[in-house]
Amino acid sequence: MTNGAAAPQQIHPLKAGLEDVIVSTSEICFIDGHKGRLLYRGYDVDDLVEHSTFEEVVYLLWHGRLPSRKELDVHVKALASTANRRLPSKVLSMLKLFPKKTTPMEILRTGVSALSAFDPDSNDNSREATLRKALRLTAQMPTLVAAWERIRKGKAPVSPNPRLNLAGNFLYMLTGKKPTPLAAKTFDVALILHADHEFNASTFAARVTAGTLSDLHSAIVSGIGTLKGPLHGGANEQVMLMVEKIKDPAKAEAWIRKLLAERGRVMGFGHRVYRVADPRAKHLRRLASELGEQVGNTSYVKILDTIASVMSSEKHMFANVDLYSGAAYAAMGISTDQFTPIFALSRVTGWAAHVLEQHGNNRLIRPRSEYTGPTDAKYVPLSER
Ligand code: CMC
Repeated sequence: MTNGAAAPQQIHPLKAGLEDVIVSTSEICFIDGHKGRLLYRGYDVDDLVEHSTFEEVVYLLWHGRLPSRKELDVHVKALASTANRRLPSKVLSMLKLFPKKTTPMEILRTGVSALSAFDPDSNDNSREATLRKALRLTAQMPTLVAAWERIRKGKAPVSPNPRLNLAGNFLYMLTGKKPTPLAAKTFDVALILHADHEFNASTFAARVTAGTLSDLHSAIVSGIGTLKGPLHGGANEQVMLMVEKIKDPAKAEAWIRKLLAERGRVMGFGHRVYRVADPRAKHLRRLASELGEQVGNTSYVKILDTIASVMSSEKHMFANVDLYSGAAYAAMGISTDQFTPIFALSRVTGWAAHVLEQHGNNRLIRPRSEYTGPTDAKYVPLSER
C-alpha cells in the first residue's frame, strides 16, 4: 500500500447468533447433533450416568481423565469438607440483608461475586489456584443456594454435612432432612447431565471473560448471568410455569396446539445443535417419572409427555434438557425458581473446565460486527437541536 491505507481485512460473513461458527478448539465436550450424542472428555454421557458420580465427572472435566481410586477419594473429601462448603459468616450476614423477594438466581450471581472477596486465591490466575478456586466454588454454591432458600422462608440455614455427597448434602441443606436414596440419586444424575455442554451461551460468556485474563469468579458470574435467560437455563423454570398453568393432563394437548397456532415458543424444546432428541432428556424423563410415582404425582410427566408428542408430530422438535428436569425437582419439593440455580450448581464445573482451558492457551476473544449505522453524521450543537 503506497497511500498508507491498511490492507483490506478478510472478514467472514455474518452468521446470526454465531450459528455453526467454530470459535475455538476444545478437548472438553463433544456434541453430535445429528446422532444425539454427548461426550465429556470422550466418555458418552449415557455411560457416565450409568457408572459414574457427579464428583467423578467433575474430576474428569477438570483433569481430562478419570481418577484413580486414591485421587477420587481425595477429590471427594475436598468437595465435601466443611472448610470448603461453609460460607464466610459475612456472606451469610449479607444474605440476610436482601429483600425476601430477591430471586435465587440474583442471590447466586451476587453471592458468587461476593465469595471472590473472601477467596484466598482471588488474585492468582495460575492453573493450580484456579483449580483450588473451582473446587471451593463448586463446594460453596450449593450452600449459598440452600441458605437463601431457608433465609427467604424465615428459617435458619442448615450447616453442610461432610458425610453426604454434593447432591445429597444440597437436598439436606434445603430441607434439613436426609433425602430418600431415589431423590439423592436423581439429583446426582441431574448434576452429571448438566455439567457441560460445549460452547453453549453461558460457557461462551465465561470463556470471553476468561479470555481477557480475568479471574475464575468473574467468569462464573458472567456464566450465571447468561444462564439466567429463558432461552438458556431459565427454560427449566418456564417449563414448570407452563405445566402449572395447564394443570390437568387431559387439557395439555389442546393447550399446546393453541400455543403453536399462535406461533408461541414452547419452552423445553428445540436446540441450536441437536437435530434429534437431546440425549440428556430421556434420563431426566425416566427419573422424573420414577420420583413422581414415589411421591404420588404423575400428572407433571403426563402433561410433558403429551406436549412432547405434539411437538414431535407437528414441529419435528424434541425435548431438550430443560423439559423434564423441573418435574423431577418439583417431585423433591424444590421451589420452581430454584431450578435454574440448580443448573448452575452443576454447570459451574464445566465453566471452570473451560476457564482452565482458555487460560491454558489464551487469545483474546474479540469478534467484529457488521456496521449498519450512518457514517457521515454531522454533529449539531446542543443549542441547535
Ligand atoms: N417452540 C416453538 N418453535 C420453536 C422453538 C420452540 N421451543 N424453538 C425454535 N422454534 C422455531 C422458531 O420459531 C423458528 O421458526 P421460524 O423459522 O418459523 O421463525 C425456528 O424454530 C428456528 O428458531 P430459532 O429461535 O431461530 O432457533 P435457535 O437455534 O436460535 O434457538 C433455542 C434455539 C433453544 C433458543 C430455541 O429452540 C428455543 O427458544 N427453545 C425454547 C427455550 C429452551 O427450551 N431453551 C433451552 C435450550 S437447551 C438447554 C439450555 O441451553 O439451557
